[in-house]
Amino acid sequence: MRFTTSLLLVAIAVTVPVHAADAKPADGKPLYTVVDGNKVDPDTLKGFRTWRAAACDRCHGANQEGMVGPSLIESLKRLTKEEFITTVRDGRLEKGMQSFGNDPRVMENIDHLYAYLKGRSDGAITSSRVKPIE
Ligand code: HEC
Repeated sequence: MRFTTSLLLVAIAVTVPVHAADAKPADGKPLYTVVDGNKVDPDTLKGFRTWRAAACDRCHGANQEGMVGPSLIESLKRLTKEEFITTVRDGRLEKGMQSFGNDPRVMENIDHLYAYLKGRSDGAITSSRVKPIE
């Protein structure tokens, strides 16, 4: 009996995910949750889908590493969330950054887009392609 119980405890201990990472909670809820570098919570997944739908990669690169636009991995280490939102909403038209203020797909998901890109910039999301946490 005692033997069975301790076996059960070992089984529970090893099923706890060991590579999970939460970003700093702002208002209780973490900004993003990532497991194994490429599995994310549903909101962060929406951020990734928004990134794809808006085709930000045309200018910022498939891995956010920068092309005609700067590396967002680097930019998001420096920009505040407010600066990020302002830049995406208004663009910097004279410098080639498009404005997305009239694109509801982007603006309705701006928090999720920020969470996804911040996770990439923090190095917590190690693959630009992400999938749901099973
Ligand atoms: C047509 C090309 C183009 C597209 C599409 C584009 N960007 Fe940009 N983006 C740029 C350029 C060029 C800059 C640099 C502007 C400057 O020099 O200040 C930039 C700047 C930025 C910055 C500010 C970076 C910094 O270091 O200050 C952010 C954030 C950003 N883009 C996010 C996005 C997101 C998110 C998307 C998709 C929703 C997107 N961009 C789509 C070209 C683009």
